[in-house]
Amino acid sequence: MKERRDQFGKCCNAPSASDHLLHSLPTLVSILFFSFTAAFTVFSFSLFILRLRPCCNCPICHSYLSSTWLASFPNLSDWYAHLLSHSPTATITIHVLSNILTANPDNVHHILKTNFHNYPKGKPFSSILGDLLGHGIFNVDGHSWTFQRKMASLELGSLSVRSHAFHILTSQIQTRLLPILCSNHGMLDLQDIFKRFSFDNICRFSFGLDPGCLSLSLPISEFAVAFDLASRLSAERAITPYPVMWRIKRLFGLGSERKLSDAIKMVDDLAMEVIRHRREIGFSHRNDLLSRFMASIDDDRYLRDIVVSFLLAGRDTVASALTSFFWLLSQNPEVEDEILAESDRVMGPDPDALPSFDNLKDMQYLHAAVYENLRLFPPVQFDSKFAEEDDILPDGTFVQKGTRVTYHPYAMGRMDRIWGSDCLQFKPERWLKNGSFAPVNPFKFPVFQAGLRVCLGKELAVMDVKCTAVVLIRKFKIRLVGTDRVARFAPGLTASWRGGLPVRIEQRTTS
Ligand code: HEM
Repeated sequence: MKERRDQFGKCCNAPSASDHLLHSLPTLVSILFFSFTAAFTVFSFSLFILRLRPCCNCPICHSYLSSTWLASFPNLSDWYAHLLSHSPTATITIHVLSNILTANPDNVHHILKTNFHNYPKGKPFSSILGDLLGHGIFNVDGHSWTFQRKMASLELGSLSVRSHAFHILTSQIQTRLLPILCSNHGMLDLQDIFKRFSFDNICRFSFGLDPGCLSLSLPISEFAVAFDLASRLSAERAITPYPVMWRIKRLFGLGSERKLSDAIKMVDDLAMEVIRHRREIGFSHRNDLLSRFMASIDDDRYLRDIVVSFLLAGRDTVASALTSFFWLLSQNPEVEDEILAESDRVMGPDPDALPSFDNLKDMQYLHAAVYENLRLFPPVQFDSKFAEEDDILPDGTFVQKGTRVTYHPYAMGRMDRIWGSDCLQFKPERWLKNGSFAPVNPFKFPVFQAGLRVCLGKELAVMDVKCTAVVLIRKFKIRLVGTDRVARFAPGLTASWRGGLPVRIEQRTTS
């Protein structure tokens, strides 16, 4: 650069206006460039969102987006049940969610069996739950699913394993559950007790590990809290009309996505601890579920996913079924009396006796009452698949490739065209024929799913609920506290009662 001098001949390099312009040119160009990029990104983003979610102002979508349904229904599931029962085909579409919902048994049969291969879990579902469930059985299709299903059914299907599970269950009831309930004279959150109880139970059964949650002196384990939070926040991803929003929050570690990632980190730590412990004590001579998987899998991350899936499968579902059962019994004392009378006939009058495996089989009214409870309050209220190819459902609904298709057991339990005009009543008798339990077509009662992916823990779960319920009913009078008799659910992957189930417990006096 040429040197400039002033009138005294001193050197003067003060920048002129053109120098200024020259110097700030790169900054200007950068600002322009970034503004353009930002504007372009926002524009493409909006286009992307609009393409993902069609704008729709039909009454259902409007009510969904503006949450006006809340004025008339306590839960989203109740609103869906109402819409489905008023639809001539028992099928509706929430356009802004690209979601077809059905409560039509023929459609359910088609989705879960006849055309099973067109309705996998699909990529959208596995990415919503991927952070929590990874490649665990609930979140995969194809080879990985076949492999895990085969291994798990070997374990859960065998009689010796079921009797092992029964042994763990009765010892948990006797040494943990009963002492806690006997020593309590005030109000108690029964849902919290059942969650702790089921968590200890599934951990002991599946992994041979006792987390000791069912001890009221301990705050509920940090892990169980993290598990609840992770399950709730993952479920919330699925109901947002703009999935791209949670992806952005996750990318930048913001808000609920940050909480979710912290909760998942805790879940990961416990799962890894379970695996490490099992390696330490050895697994080759053991028969529990985890050991079976460890014998053929080396990858700890994959094992972690399997552990988490089984915790989810066995813990929240059973706790949810027990919670709703006691909610229903407290409002239907005649059913409780009938269960008591039957159990006295089968087990004798001693309220301290625990049922045997055979006693449980003989209690048909109890079995019917448990199914009736599951009909009205399925722990998994809905379940979604994603169509691989265009299809037409048996009721004539056109399904475009990539659409989410949801069957809704909660709504199905409330359809009078399936269960008759008394469908909202709690009537175990509807499941009995000549005093024996008579199962129904699983596609009109897909509480355990149905078809090729039917729940593998069904028998185990029903045994858990029957056994725990009958022991508690014989020993205690359990009554709801508070006047609100409307069931309200918290968001989550399994149905859970908002605010818990506050009850007062009284020991029955023997006459
Ligand atoms: C009342 C209790 C239970 C209910 C209502 C229930 C319901 C269900 C439902 C609806 C599914 C299908 C989920 C999906 O594909 O997204 C399922 C799958 C499954 N359940 Fe259960 N379940 C219960 C208890 C259990 C228990 C105690 C276990 C094991 C210890 C278990 C093991 C499984 C497994 C392994 C699958 C995956 C099946 C597959 O994808 O092939 N479940 N269950």
